[in-house]
Formats: sequence, structure tokens, C-alpha cells
Amino acid sequence: MKIKSAHFVMSNSKVEHCPNEKIPEYAFIGRSNVGKSSLINMLTDRKGLAKTSGKPGKTQLINHFKINDNWFLVDLPGYGYARVSKKDKKTFQRYITDYFEAREQLVCSFVLVDVRHEPQKIDLEFMEWLGENGIPFCIVFTKADKLKPKAIERQVSAYIAQLLESVWEEAPQYFVTSSSKKMGKETLLHFIDQINSDFFTAQNS
Ligand code: GTP
Ligand code: MG
Repeated sequence: MKIKSAHFVMSNSKVEHCPNEKIPEYAFIGRSNVGKSSLINMLTDRKGLAKTSGKPGKTQLINHFKINDNWFLVDLPGYGYARVSKKDKKTFQRYITDYFEAREQLVCSFVLVDVRHEPQKIDLEFMEWLGENGIPFCIVFTKADKLKPKAIERQVSAYIAQLLESVWEEAPQYFVTSSSKKMGKETLLHFIDQINSDFFTAQNS
């Protein structure tokens, strides 16, 4: 899929205020600093579209970006960001979970995890929560440029194996990416394109 246009639509902290349009939407979620905003910029080929930072906690709201005038990418704050106060953290979690529960046009969520890390409790719990609520998701391994191909393979297999040892009977679909090397771009865009086609076909039938 070619990205012909990509623009910022709005930021807000309430799912009720998100855009009304019933077009397919994809959300990027994961720990702070995992590379959510960078991945959005990489996929759209627009460096400054989503704000990125070396410091965790950069993205603080629900940010909608409209792509090719007919679908949305959504940049979310990181969960489990340790440096916000306890009270703020609660508000964070709440409006994020409200978003996932209420957003009907959310066709797939991408849970980002750093390919270098072992499975983290907060990610596993969040995936479990998505599963319990019937919210479709894929895993996106990020920062693959930090490891050699063999190590990537080892990390990914170990991660998936651990998922299968927990509550999952089937491994979720996953992608290996690097925003700095533009790795995984075509595969992810192709995946999105397929879901978009199914969405519009179902809508017109
Ligand atoms: P929050 O908004 O704080 O939740 O973070 P985020 O998940 O949006 O992360 P962001 O995209 O802002 O990136 C965090 C840091 O990781 C930045 O310094 C990025 O340059 C770096 N980064 C993101 N993706 C990659 C990648 O693929 N490879 C490498 N080496 N660094 C990356
Ligand atoms: Mg961000």
C-alpha cells in the first residue's frame, strides 16, 4: 500500500471525543519508549508526524492520524510509565482501557514490545486483558536494528514460546520491525491493507 496522505486529526483524553467516522482504525500501544510514535512515522514516511522522544512519557493523549483519507492510525501513551504520579497513572490506564472497550472501529491493535527484552508482566497482562475483551491484536517487536538476525530469531521464538506456555492456545500474529532501518514496513502496511479491504467489502455488501 502506498501512503499518499497522512495528517494529524486530533488529540484528546476521552474516547467520546474521538472522531466519529466509521473507518478502520489501528492503535499502537505498549510501554513508554518502546517506539510507538516512531513506528507511526516510519510507516507513513513522515518524520515529525507523531512526536517522539528519548525520554519516556512523550505521548500523553489519544492521537488520531488520518491516512489516505480512509483509515486512522492512533498513537497512544505508554502504559506503565513509572515517572507519572500514582494518581495520573490511574487516569492514564483508565482512559486507555475506555478507549479500547468503546472504540468500535478499532479493527486491530498493535502491542509493541522491545525485541531485546524478555516478556514483561505488564505486556502479558495487557494482552490477556485484550483477549478477555475480544479485542483483536498483533505483537510488533521493535528496535530489531539493535540485534543480529540470529538473536532476533532467538528472542522472538522464546517470547512466543512463553506466550504459549501461559494462557494462549494459539500465538498471536507478530511482526519484527525497526523504525530506524525501516524494517517490517511493507509487511505491516500489507497486513493493514488486507484488513481495510475486508472492512470496506463487508460494509458495501
Ligand atoms: P512514549 O510516547 O513515551 O510512550 O514512547 P514511544 O513508545 O512513542 O517511543 P518513541 O517512538 O518516542 O521512541 C522512544 C525512543 O526510542 C526514541 O529515542 C526513538 O528514537 C527510539 N526508537 C524508536 N524506534 C526505534 C528503532 O526501531 N530503533 C532504535 N534503535 N531506536 C528506536
Ligand atoms: Mg509516543
